[in-house]
Amino acid sequence: EKGGYEHFMIKEIYEEPQVIKDTLSEAEKIKEIVSKFKNFNRICFVACGTSYHASLIGEYLIESQIGIPTEVILASEFEYFQKTLDKHTLVIFITQSGETADTIKALKIAKKKSETLAIVNVVGSSITREADHVIYTRAGPEISVAATKTYISQLICIYLLVAYLGENEKLLDNLYKISRLSEKILSREEQIREIAKKYKFARDFFYIGRGFNYPTALEGALKLKEITYIHGEGYPAGELKHGPLALIEDNIPVVGILPPGPSYRKTYNNLQEIKARGADMIILGANNDTHLDDIEDKLLFDPEIDEVLSPLLYIIDLQLLAYYISIEKGIDPDKPKNLAKSVTVE
Ligand code: F6R
Repeated sequence: EKGGYEHFMIKEIYEEPQVIKDTLSEAEKIKEIVSKFKNFNRICFVACGTSYHASLIGEYLIESQIGIPTEVILASEFEYFQKTLDKHTLVIFITQSGETADTIKALKIAKKKSETLAIVNVVGSSITREADHVIYTRAGPEISVAATKTYISQLICIYLLVAYLGENEKLLDNLYKISRLSEKILSREEQIREIAKKYKFARDFFYIGRGFNYPTALEGALKLKEITYIHGEGYPAGELKHGPLALIEDNIPVVGILPPGPSYRKTYNNLQEIKARGADMIILGANNDTHLDDIEDKLLFDPEIDEVLSPLLYIIDLQLLAYYISIEKGIDPDKPKNLAKSVTVE
């Protein structure tokens, strides 16, 4: 059933290039759904966990590429925000299982006042029966508790949605290059395994990103917590100096997400501040970046990837990093303690 892989998690990570292709084949359906939306002047995403992080990328994309006011609300906190919902708000629910109790409850509240769209992986799940519109993520069944390929497929749906909402042909064209590029990342598992060996005894990790990759930092840290039981914290690059810099000390591992693009300079400077305080840097950046020559642990990407699309690829390395740390620690990544695949209590 695991098709020769040791765990479902690694099998599911290796399925990502195919999942990207399969989800892109939903493009026409997504285009049609977009054409059916009523008039709206505000978008609100609602989700939990990994699906919440995908939603955050949706917020950055819509705000920056289209300019529609957008916010993201955790499903478990949604009831405290319901007063401002109206018929000009489009509420988008993202859920792999379609059975998350917090998300179902929020959908029941939202549909009384607003138009609703659900982005779901499991066909026929509870959420799909309640929402006005449904988009399927086409990731196939995900067995491992930690969400990996379904996160990628949620992102593809969000990018397609944004491309059609904003009539952005360039974004659409670039999306079609992502599947091939994602295969390249999967070919460096040996290198990631070495990094995993080096840091498996760490007590804390920081993940630092800016803009589109702030959610990538959060998701990388969540994967680490879930399957390695190491404390990981995702932080926006510019926010560290407002407090957490006090925690940076010699040899604390810090994952810096540094794609080329408009955010590069500021993020680079923020990472320099951290490095100067003795942290062990693990940098995800472009393979033509000469500033990285003195960095020992780095995972490099094709510099052609636009910063806007970088979250789709950079997260794959962070999933692999968490996976291999888990293996190095002798933990079964498919069945982390205290967690269930779908959370059916509020
Ligand atoms: C993390 C993880 C959880 C889920 C969350 C929402 O790897 O799997 O954080 O993302 O419980 O689940 P869904 O997407 O099914 O609503």
